[in-house]
Amino acid sequence: MKFYVLTLFPEMIIDALSNSIVGRAMDKGQIELIPVNIRDYTLDKHKKVDDYPYGGGAGMVMQAQPIYDAYQHICEEAGHKVHCVYLTPQGRTFQQKIAHEYALMEDVCLLCGHYEGIDERVLEEIVDDYISIGDYVLTGGELGAMVLIDAISRLVPGVLHNDDSASTESFEQGLLEYPQYSRPETWNNRKVPAILLSGDHAKVDQWRHEKSLERTLERRPDLLESYELTEADKKYLKELDNCN
Ligand code: ADE
Repeated sequence: MKFYVLTLFPEMIIDALSNSIVGRAMDKGQIELIPVNIRDYTLDKHKKVDDYPYGGGAGMVMQAQPIYDAYQHICEEAGHKVHCVYLTPQGRTFQQKIAHEYALMEDVCLLCGHYEGIDERVLEEIVDDYISIGDYVLTGGELGAMVLIDAISRLVPGVLHNDDSASTESFEQGLLEYPQYSRPETWNNRKVPAILLSGDHAKVDQWRHEKSLERTLERRPDLLESYELTEADKKYLKELDNCN
């Protein structure tokens, strides 16, 4: 999968994503990261990419021309209209299910804004989706783009070593993931739950499922509203409720 990133800070994207799992996926050619510096496309002799807002007001607005030309260059290189996402607090909130939608695509272009925003006309011309990474305002779209690239890349087939690990984790089943333990069996006087050492896979699965329910109830009860509880789940949650 190819990620084109339209940005004024291309080195920020490369530096942050060259390590760990995403870096390895790039080395293996499973994903490709192509930052495109918007400033390289300005026709202004001083390399300016922003100007004052019409109608007045604080801050500067990123101009349409350099963004449009940089995007056209990307589409020419790709040989088709590349799906374009503008990172903005005004977008739909990014979620695991959106990461899955995007992981199916061949390529995507992530547009990062700065200053007070981008001239609306170029957004109308090129943007296919508006995505926010949460209800807060960042200084630019780059961190949002990196969040999307990280979350989407790990769903691209082959990127994670163990294919199971993506399907059991938080959000994939609509619940938060159960707690995990590794060696040693006792650390700081704390023991690993005995059931995990029993070798009884059915019991381990049941224990993990119950812990997922318990944790979701405690930390993200809103998720339970859209999760289809079995009769056994309901009974377990009721027991938990009686204990509290
Ligand atoms: N740019 C500024 N704030 C943002 C946010 N919350 N999500 C995505 N892009 C942004």
